[in-house]
Amino acid sequence: MTADIVPSGRPVISATGLFTPQESISNDELVQSFNLYVERFNGENAAAIASGELEALQPSSVEFIEKASGIKSRHVMTKAALLDPAIMAPRLDERADDELSILAEIGVKAARDALQRADREPGDVDAVLCAASNMQRPYPAMAIEIQQALGIDGFAFDMNVACSSATFGIQTAADYIRAGNARSVLVVSPEITSGHLNWRDRDSHFIFGDVATAVLVEDAAMAPAVHWDILGTRLKTVFSNNIRNNFGYLNRAHPETVDAPDKLFVQEGRKVFKEVVPMVAQMIVEEAERLEIDPQGLRRLWLHQANAGMNRLIAQRVLGHEASEDESPTVLDTYGNTSSAGSIIAFHLNSEDLQAGDTGLICSFGAGYSAGTVFLRKAG
Ligand code: COA
Repeated sequence: MTADIVPSGRPVISATGLFTPQESISNDELVQSFNLYVERFNGENAAAIASGELEALQPSSVEFIEKASGIKSRHVMTKAALLDPAIMAPRLDERADDELSILAEIGVKAARDALQRADREPGDVDAVLCAASNMQRPYPAMAIEIQQALGIDGFAFDMNVACSSATFGIQTAADYIRAGNARSVLVVSPEITSGHLNWRDRDSHFIFGDVATAVLVEDAAMAPAVHWDILGTRLKTVFSNNIRNNFGYLNRAHPETVDAPDKLFVQEGRKVFKEVVPMVAQMIVEEAERLEIDPQGLRRLWLHQANAGMNRLIAQRVLGHEASEDESPTVLDTYGNTSSAGSIIAFHLNSEDLQAGDTGLICSFGAGYSAGTVFLRKAG
């Protein structure tokens, strides 16, 4: 169908896709389960706590979670085990090697949604990037499994830049199109973040949720009439230990530490907040200047969804005034932090109403540190 197009070398976003798990956990349910765990732990360890050998665990609170983060609920693949105080970890059945793995399965669902919205056949796609922070396994690549499930001829690989995986994936896809190495690239971000979250850690047990997104990046010459021109992309990384996860196969050298809390998500939330807000705001303003775009004229910001307070501050610095929900939409209230997928969900659910010529920005930030900007203008 697209064999006879003459590539322009100009990358656009043709469509996006979303898969949302059916189950969700409210703050009430989450805190009830956590506090039951705390009560049991403190009861079972009463003597050690009384003698000062162990510190009593503190309960969590719905009010704190909502005030500190803006999160009210989160979707998860399966909630029973996550809420069982005796488990508090995912219990997803292992699948045979000849079955589609669960991460690929939700990636395929999001990808099919994007393809359908662009009226695109898988046969027209040249490459699949699985850009996510919570991969199922080291190899074979999830992306190749997704490629096979969709019936795409071409190449595929996984890339992990934590919460910024999707924007790094979009720039990578855009560069293939700019260089003429591909004309249609799917950037898929399946995030089953309930796996890396420490559901027993009071400071972070409320943060994450599961989801999958897909972004179809294409050469303008083959894009549907309504699409988003990519005006510019910019990536930045600065090393930081403030968000860290030490899980990996080298842990086998010290099997006794495999279940230690540092093999799950750990962060210094306050430091992340303080350091990332100025870094990202400055990056956005500088990139806007390079692209000769007035940042205050951006119609909408689709920001990474980690914390409502961070987004409020970043949006204010970029737009020059307190952003309305219309200017900087929130999805973390119902999705939680979905790592790399967050800014893409915000875009997917809040972009149809914009007019041709409107400009906007997808922006991610997270572990690494890593940050990415994708400036867009609606066409069609
Ligand atoms: N329930 C009740 N109280 C809690 C609590 C909980 N679940 N977790 C922590 N607290 C308490 C703390 O013990 C602390 O008490 P203290 O003041 O008596 O010491 C107080 O609440 C404040 O804790 P703090 O960790 O400083 O909260 P915060 O306001 O910084 O909010 C985050 C925590 C994690 C929500 C916030 O820092 C954040 O979102 N940062 C950015 C995180 C981010 O973007 N990470 C990227 C992930 S990819």
